[in-house]
Order: sequence, then C-alpha cells, then structure tokens
Amino acid sequence: MGNENDEQPEDQNSMMPTKPKRAFASDNNAGIHPRVLDAIAAANEAHVIAYGDDPYTEAAVELFHKQFGKDVEVYFVFGGTGANVLGLKAATESHQAIICADTAHINVDECGAPEKFTGCKLLPLPTNEGKITVDQIRPFLDAVGFEHHVQPRVISISQATEMGTVYKPLEVKKLSDFAHKNAMLLHMDGARIANAAASLKANLGDITREVGVDVLSFGGAKNGMMYGEAVIFFDRNLAKDFKYTRKQGTHLPSKMRFISAQFSALLSDDLWRKNAAHANSMAKLLAQELGRIPLIEFTQKVESNGVFVRLPKKYIAKLQKQSFFYVWNERTSEVRFMTSFDTTPQDISDFVALIKNTLR
Ligand SMILES: Cc1ncc(COP(=O)(O)O)c(C=O)c1O
Repeated sequence: MGNENDEQPEDQNSMMPTKPKRAFASDNNAGIHPRVLDAIAAANEAHVIAYGDDPYTEAAVELFHKQFGKDVEVYFVFGGTGANVLGLKAATESHQAIICADTAHINVDECGAPEKFTGCKLLPLPTNEGKITVDQIRPFLDAVGFEHHVQPRVISISQATEMGTVYKPLEVKKLSDFAHKNAMLLHMDGARIANAAASLKANLGDITREVGVDVLSFGGAKNGMMYGEAVIFFDRNLAKDFKYTRKQGTHLPSKMRFISAQFSALLSDDLWRKNAAHANSMAKLLAQELGRIPLIEFTQKVESNGVFVRLPKKYIAKLQKQSFFYVWNERTSEVRFMTSFDTTPQDISDFVALIKNTLR
C-alpha cells in the first residue's frame, strides 16, 4: 500500500516550481494557520520554566478541560506516532494485544513503533472503509485466559479513519461498551478528530468521552498547528505513570510553551472547528468536481477531508509530476487526495482542470 511516507519520485525536486503551490498530497503538507503562528510569536517572550510548568501550558490545559471536563489528564507530545505509542503503552502490558483496522496508522505507518514500545501484538482486522465492528472483534475473546495466546486489551480506532470515513457516535459506543464489558479499553487515534467532529457537527467531548473512549490522541498538526499533539486520558488511572512514560518515550518537550500556545490558538474561538469544517467542505467540493469526470471512480465515501478515487493507471505518474499526491493502493490504482485548512476553491478548480486535461 502506498502512503505519504513513501519516497517521492526522484525528479520531484526538479519539478518543484520556484514558489511552492498548495496541492492535495497531505494535510501534513500544509503550513501553519496564521493565528497559530501568531500565538507562537506571542509566546516568544522572556523566559518561562521549561517542560510544561509555565502559564501557556496551564492555559492550554484549561482549554482542554473546557472541552472535555476538568477531570481529564492532558499531556502534550511532539507528534502523532508518539501520542499513539505512548497512549497505548499506558494502557497495556506486553502480553496483551491491540486490535485495530488493517488500514490503521498504528498498523501501517508507524514503522512497528507500537509493537516495539508496548511489546504488544497488533491484531489487524480487514476493513473496506477503515472501520471495525464488534462482530469482527468478538472471536478474539476465545483467547482470554489462555496462556499461549496474547490477551486482547485495547481496541484502537482512528477518527476520522485513514480512509476519510467517520465513525458515528453510536458505532464508537458499541465498541466501547463491548470493550468495557470484556475488561478492555478503547483507544482513539484522533489525528483528525477535529475533522470528524466538524463532519458530525458534534462537540469534541460528545464523540470521545461521552461514547466511552478511554485514551485519545488529539491531533494538532493536520489542523493548522506547526507540530504537537496531545494524549488525553478520560480514565485517569491510566495516566498514573504517564509523565515517566512520556519522558522515557522521548516526548517531553523542553520548550513546551510553544506547543501549548498553538493548542490555545486552536481551541480559542472554535478555530479548530473552522479549520476542519473548511477542509471538509473543500473535500466535498473536490469530490463534486471529480464526480463529473467519467474515468474517475470513487472508492470511499467523502466524510472528512480525504477523497479516495481510482484513476486509470497510465495517467497517474504524469499527474503526480504536475501536482504530487499519493497512490494508496498500487494494485487497484487507488489514490488519495487530501484537503487542508488552507485549500481554496481556486486550488480545486486548477487541480480538476489539470486532471481533466491529462485524462482527455
Ligand atoms: C491517522 C493518523 N494517525 C497518526 C498520524 C500521526 O503521525 P505523525 O507521527 O507523522 O505525526 C497520522 C499522520 O499522518 C495519521 O494519518
């Protein structure tokens, strides 16, 4: 499966225009939202205590408490892989297993880091649209108590999913009810939780805590931050030793204030929702325009900021040279287009014109 960590074609650099353009390869390729950048600059004053004992971090944590409730534990880390790995580590012992979709970032795109740091086996389940269900998970219970088998401990889901789809709150609730009934936990990779909340027109708490999520990786980078994610524990017992886990896992930022200031910007005046809703609406517009091109076949529902389509294979490399994007599945010629907080309708009409010209 192709993904955004794949090497880009060798001639990519020679094809780079002098002034970089916005494209549809990844929401990670976007820059920083101006208000977030302003917040970084505003935090660049004087000295404050390092490692999070500072007023910027206190303010950001307070904003998370407003979203999720006072009794949650919030920890900032550098990136999404780190958030996932460390959150999962806090929830598991090495003889246990983490159940996830076969398309999950933890399964495909983290270079085995979850297995290395937790010691747990990942049990990936096949899925057509990036979502897993209780019926698929139930058979793993046969292993419970049997010393020769790993013990199922965590169900991990991505919201929005890697395939651009979004779990409905009831779908998440079914998974968490099942998990809790069977002494398991629900982890959510929320690298795109803002896109999911915007898509569902829901509050952040309603699609996480209220539907039984125990640990959440809360994404920042894909929604306008420079870098930085948060690990949020709704089950506080799990956070008992997390400050040590985070440090040992190399994710304790010394200049924490700059992550905190970014989160404060994102969580103020609903900037997180505006950015995500915009990216989602641009994905809808892109899908609408692509839908008019006969040779394009949609492979996924467009529910967040990703558009997955099948393109005739012979045109893909030619298109990529003009506006890079990732092939998601080489065998089926499925490609992924991502929109961002800064995608414009003009970017979409330029890209669609390019596709139309190439497929002509
Ligand atoms: C679903 C998902 N989870 C987590 C991540 C975080 O990865 P990173 O470690 O690159 O911040 C990504 C990034 O692409 C992602 O798509």
